[in-house]
Amino acid sequence: RVRVAVLISGAGSNMAALIDACQAADALYEVVLVVSNDPEAGGLAVARSKGVATVAIDHKPFGKDRAAHEADIQAELEAASVEVIALAGYMRLLTPFLVNRWEGRMLNIHPSLLPKYPGLDTHARALEAGDAEAGCTVHLVTEGVDEGPILDQQAVPIVAGDTPRTLAQRVLTAEHGLYPRALASFCARIRNL
Ligand code: GAR
Repeated sequence: RVRVAVLISGAGSNMAALIDACQAADALYEVVLVVSNDPEAGGLAVARSKGVATVAIDHKPFGKDRAAHEADIQAELEAASVEVIALAGYMRLLTPFLVNRWEGRMLNIHPSLLPKYPGLDTHARALEAGDAEAGCTVHLVTEGVDEGPILDQQAVPIVAGDTPRTLAQRVLTAEHGLYPRALASFCARIRNL
């Protein structure tokens, strides 16, 4: 099974969905490590409760030296023999240090139908634009933020009375279905299955 690390910064609900899905007997991947840049991230305890190893590498002591922070992350990934990284609500911009090392083997989930609305505040922007639907995208990570090749997407309707909050919740539920599916397909592809 493909050895996956999930990088988080927050609640980790996508991380939990990825872990739950890989507990099936025929799963193609295994989450071997969860890394957070925020020692307070709620997802760390969730991962531990599911029996997955965690490490918190606080970015704050590194100041502006993002690459040094990433070098510590890289050391943990190597120690765990990680093969694929899944970013799941990891809210730090990555530098070429990690992006280039993991080119073609790092996935991200983004809460919009890319190429629409890269960056932040995706739901408010979709509502503001009067869109009829929103959604989420799993893509490969490249140096351009939210620009890498799209692997899969899931649309959800926008309904009357939606706020950024209600829409975010509907999209998040779709993310929990999309991400495990997209990661499994990706792993099948890299294993030539
Ligand atoms: C998710 O909606 C994810 O798509 C988004 O943050 C949320 C994390 O929730 N990611 C980004 O905005 C990346 N720029 P989670 O911690 O419960 O998975």
